[in-house]
Amino acid sequence: MAFWAAVLGALLVSILGGLYLLGAFRRRRPTEPPLDKGHIPWLGYALDFRKNSAEFLKKMQRRHGDIFTVLIGGYYFTFVMDPFSFGAIVKASRAKLDFEAFAVELVARVFGYHPSKNNHKIIQVSSTKHLMGDGLVVMTQAMMENLQTLMFHNRDSGEGRRWQQDGLFHYSYNIVFRAGYLALFGNEPCTGTQSEEKAKERDLIQSEELFDEFRKYDRLFPRLAYAVLPPKDKMEAERLKRLFWKVLSVKNSREKDNISGWISDQEQFLAELGVPEYMRDRFMFLLLWAAQGNTGPSSFWLLLYLMKHPEAMQAVREEVDKVLGEAGQEVKPGSPVVNITRDMLMKTPVLDSAVEETLRLTAAPILIRAVVEDLNLKMANGREYALCKGDRIALFPHVAVQMDPEVHPEPHTFKYNRFLNQDGTKKDFYKNGKKLKYFNMPWGAGTSICPGRFFAVNEIKLFVFLMLSYYDLELVNEKEEIPPIDVSRWGFGSMQPTHDVQFKYRLRI
Ligand code: HEM
Repeated sequence: MAFWAAVLGALLVSILGGLYLLGAFRRRRPTEPPLDKGHIPWLGYALDFRKNSAEFLKKMQRRHGDIFTVLIGGYYFTFVMDPFSFGAIVKASRAKLDFEAFAVELVARVFGYHPSKNNHKIIQVSSTKHLMGDGLVVMTQAMMENLQTLMFHNRDSGEGRRWQQDGLFHYSYNIVFRAGYLALFGNEPCTGTQSEEKAKERDLIQSEELFDEFRKYDRLFPRLAYAVLPPKDKMEAERLKRLFWKVLSVKNSREKDNISGWISDQEQFLAELGVPEYMRDRFMFLLLWAAQGNTGPSSFWLLLYLMKHPEAMQAVREEVDKVLGEAGQEVKPGSPVVNITRDMLMKTPVLDSAVEETLRLTAAPILIRAVVEDLNLKMANGREYALCKGDRIALFPHVAVQMDPEVHPEPHTFKYNRFLNQDGTKKDFYKNGKKLKYFNMPWGAGTSICPGRFFAVNEIKLFVFLMLSYYDLELVNEKEEIPPIDVSRWGFGSMQPTHDVQFKYRLRI
């Protein structure tokens, strides 16, 4: 009898323990944000969130207001939807809200990379040196030269002057990815018997192959990040990871010419910290992903918005021509391709506004911090909420501010000059009559803000600058609507369209 009572007792304890672990007993304390665990133990709202994060969060905001805690796959996420309160989160010290704790897990799953202690610092130091200030001049030039190789290699043969057709998404992503990759990771060597032309040809072939493989990984990425890939796709993701580790390996990079300081410095810093070579290879894959996964899709959206909005296209064209004219350069038959510098790109307020508008509409990262200790979060309206150690706090600025009609009237419409005052200066944005600091957040904010943002903008601008200066562009079906956003990718940076848009292009000169 006593034996069976003990067995029953143990069973009860394990069931209760299991339910506790699944979060079944967690109740909202009065000082905490509204808590919504959904109906499925442990999973909570994981399925709704994964299906369409933006719609899910809008629904929760309507139900609970500007702060709420939801259970998603075993974790409690507190979402803050009031942009006036973003500062308190993105500026909080690492001892309270930690950005790396969450990133470490994700990075291990998707890139097989286990970050070393000073990784974030290494990225920041190298990016400040090579992707900003004087370093940006060098990187912009490298991007320019590689774009020239990719976009004008068939100019002399006359072949480029015939109409060609492609998907605009595929074309833009392909060119911007490959040029950015070559600018950062270096070119095929041009030594000994190899002439410069031969090396360029090999760059063209190798970068094209790499782009094809990258796109395969790109398509698997959201499900890989959520750890929901079926076995066959998991195997494919594993194959691709290994391929990238190999192609981008430290050993292979030693053979390249013109490798950027951004890449070589980071590799060297890690080596000095004693990070083994195989792990440094994996870090290179992470850098490729961070650097090249967003700029191509953003370039596509910008070019498409311009093609669908003739007044915007005309305004940007006029600015491009003016900047070229002021630099004493001309697009004309027989002369070398123009050279667009970082300084020229600093004189393009209209294009800047069009880029920012594109990112407002189509960049949608979710910013996540781990709550390191129990703490009180003070919202901008003065209310305080208790946050629990071990939970996560998250911002989704796309829903919370980028598409808020009060901040950005007619938020679904592309307005190329939305970010400009009449006199060409930058506009301020308001909500409830109060000036907003965080009105557009494609790059995130605070300690985890994208360190490549200035280079990214220059990459996009260079591509569009060259496309508008040298090419005739037409949509195959002029009446085709702008495709919807693929909702399975919310949270991962620049969004992609559900389908491509066919276009025709030919070199004008
Ligand atoms: C349109 C293009 C881009 C967008 C929208 C974008 C967006 C972002 C965002 C939102 C984050 C922060 C994520 C977070 O808080 O968890 C981030 C991080 C990062 N981005 Fe970008 N990015 C772009 C292009 C680039 C480029 C061109 C580079 C480098 C050449 C780059 C390098 C990085 C790196 C290394 C990180 C990780 C930073 C860290 O761990 O400290 N990004 N990016």
